[in-house]
Amino acid sequence: MIKNLNHIAIAVPDLDGAAATYRDRLGATVSDATDQPDHGVRVVFVELENTKIELLEPLGENSPIAKFLERNPDGGVHHICLEVDDIQAATKKLSAEGVRILGSGEAKAGAHGKPVVFLHPKDFFATLIELEES
Ligand code: CO
Repeated sequence: MIKNLNHIAIAVPDLDGAAATYRDRLGATVSDATDQPDHGVRVVFVELENTKIELLEPLGENSPIAKFLERNPDGGVHHICLEVDDIQAATKKLSAEGVRILGSGEAKAGAHGKPVVFLHPKDFFATLIELEES
């Protein structure tokens, strides 16, 4: 069912500082920061040849990563995103097998405009998994 690793998302307390660290220490190509108010995050993409890293900073009230940063004030890996061909089929199969889908349980447009769902970390070894149709 799963295909490529689309991205790894890392929550950081200081997005500009984190972007500079990836650029200057690791020689990475980093995008400009963009606000994604629908997702409650400000994002920088670290472009790699085979995947990308998304650096996330909370944006606005009720950011979904605010609590994570309270527990992990220095930042940390927040989720991994795996690609699937058919998100509805994947969601249906997983929930039929007892996997908990976060939120409404329905796919909605993610950071790249493609449909995504998030799977409960307790069902995947304490790792939050985002599935993206791609
Ligand atoms: Co993501």
